[in-house]
Amino acid sequence: MARARIIGTGSYLPARVLTNVDLEQRVDTSDAWIVERTGIRERRIADATEQCSDLATAAGRAALTAAGITGRDLDLVLVATATPDMAFPSTACLVQRALGCGPVPAFDLSAACSGFVYALTVGDQFIRAGSARTVLVIGAEVLSRIVDWSDRTTCVLFGDGAGAVVLQATEDGRGILSSHLHAEGEMADLLMVAAPGKRNPGTGEVFALEGELIRMRGNETFRVAVRMLGEVVAEALAANAMVPEDLDLLIPHQANIRIIEATAKRLGMSMDSVVVNLDRVGNTSAASIPIALDEAVRSGRVRAGQNILLEAFGGGLTWGAVMMRW
Ligand code: ACO
Repeated sequence: MARARIIGTGSYLPARVLTNVDLEQRVDTSDAWIVERTGIRERRIADATEQCSDLATAAGRAALTAAGITGRDLDLVLVATATPDMAFPSTACLVQRALGCGPVPAFDLSAACSGFVYALTVGDQFIRAGSARTVLVIGAEVLSRIVDWSDRTTCVLFGDGAGAVVLQATEDGRGILSSHLHAEGEMADLLMVAAPGKRNPGTGEVFALEGELIRMRGNETFRVAVRMLGEVVAEALAANAMVPEDLDLLIPHQANIRIIEATAKRLGMSMDSVVVNLDRVGNTSAASIPIALDEAVRSGRVRAGQNILLEAFGGGLTWGAVMMRW
């Protein structure tokens, strides 16, 4: 049976760097607190002219180049984002136009920080079903537009960026082995951006309203995340008759170094086998895993035959994991 294999990766980070020291000027915080509690040292911020679709297009173009194909070779474009350019058209349609893909289907998918794992699963399912052969999957965010820059408990966490992969059908035994997605709407209020939406219509003064900014119960989110990630990682291992020692690389959502270390510890994995870039990019939500994956590929850490596990959690709550053989 055909399954999806990643044949190219790409990423894009805006040029502007915002350090913890810069944040000390804005809110009552310190570099030492942020590093100790989160592991983050700096993050990238899109400039006013850069939209989510621009970041997504740049990452997508890099992934196409790495795969040695063009937009014309794609059968489907998926963008996971919580910060689309607009309500519609979807960011994916704007990317499809920019990359000259022709009239193939394109749509956005919303699962907050789990968005990439969700979108990767959807792309894989299209390929397994025979509905697509080559799929571009992008995670892209301009979270700086929905961060409350006066709230020290959240503004230190997030950054902007985009990452992308090209999936292609393969029958050589490599590729996505299994996907495991979950959601728990009972915990919807742990982490949210309440507006704009039909329930909380915007005023036209974009991002000026209280409800239009990120609100998070960080401590509870932290505890739930550690538990759910542990469970979903165990589920992914069991589904593939693997034990933790079979894993070569863990590429986690880059939310907090303490959450990542807790998951690695539970697996008995050395941090040498865990990809971490949040010190430089912060939490880029749906973009975080594909950016980290692209960096790992380009630095030579990812090698043929490795078992690689991706895992994420985010608003919804949503969480999930994808097991791959590279
Ligand atoms: N600088 C200094 N002090 C701070 C800061 C800051 N930036 N932020 C909070 N504090 C203070 C708090 O006010 C509190 O002070 P108090 O004790 O006087 O009340 C104290 O530090 C401890 O606050 P906690 O919230 O308990 O700190 P915690 O150790 O939980 O760390 C953090 C907070 C980093 C947010 C952590 O809870 C976390 O990472 N949670 C997970 C959040 C996450 O990953 N969210 C993203 C999900 S992805 C998505 O879908 C967008």
